[in-house]
Amino acid sequence: MTTHGGRAELAGWRSSVAGTVALVPTMGALHDGHRRLIARAKQIADAVAVSVFVNPLQFGPDEDFDRYPRDLEADLEICRADEVDFVFTPELAEMYPREPEVTVSAGRMGTVFEGAARPGHFDGVLTVVTKLFRLVRPDVAVFGQKDAQQLALVERLTADLDLGVTIDAVPIVRDADGLALSSRNRYLSDDERRIALALPAAIEAARAAATPEEAQDAARRALAGAQRRHPEFSVGYATLVERATFIECPPGFRGDAVLVLAARVGATRLIDNAPLTF
Ligand code: PAJ
Repeated sequence: MTTHGGRAELAGWRSSVAGTVALVPTMGALHDGHRRLIARAKQIADAVAVSVFVNPLQFGPDEDFDRYPRDLEADLEICRADEVDFVFTPELAEMYPREPEVTVSAGRMGTVFEGAARPGHFDGVLTVVTKLFRLVRPDVAVFGQKDAQQLALVERLTADLDLGVTIDAVPIVRDADGLALSSRNRYLSDDERRIALALPAAIEAARAAATPEEAQDAARRALAGAQRRHPEFSVGYATLVERATFIECPPGFRGDAVLVLAARVGATRLIDNAPLTF
């Protein structure tokens, strides 16, 4: 049976669990990408908790915190259908009874790419993830490769601060047309959605390349073409980085990389990526 609630209900549920616990942290507006994380969590642990909390600390002053999609009833329905054991749905004041004085710093990796576009974003993410880990005390937490930089940072967070939580990663879930599922896709008009397909198209172009240099060039060419054709499309970045550090791949790089992409389509900022190994 699926139950839900704030800190008190969580504490009650947690003390009743016998085996291992997997946590799937989310900001709600659950879609099939989140559901894939839940399915993975069910495979690897005895009990599954999903958190639904739109974390103000990770939104900039001009970002979409106020209009971020919130639909708790629909989220709970999905969690019931997927047989989640507990849905942690804290109120804002329960997570932040006052402005936090002490927060987690994401370091250098938190200041590049998404961190450069969204100053303070990753400090906010790592702070809430640390709090969620303390409150839920999971054995394992499941994250999506959709947010590759977040995933790399959460891995460093747990290693550097000895949080004792195993991090499990799930590949990006895409719609039939190739667009990566995202709660923010619902901001897109039909036209914008078609234009956004330049992101998966750039990934396809990069996959066909033999070397890291060619892969990055192919992606950049594809995105530049989309930008020329569509005035509402603008490229944020398209860079091949080392997967674990987000340092740009030097010439002749060999190993695990990730091609990270960001673009704006109308008023909506979208990110996408592809893990590539050379
Ligand atoms: P949110 O954007 O709701 O995403 C929750 C989790 O779902 C993340 O791990 C994200 O990578 C994963 N996810 C989203 N879309 C996906 C897709 N198409 N395929 C695979 N996984 C996908 O990420 C956050 O929330 C927040 O930053 C959070 C970690 C909850 C901290 O507030």
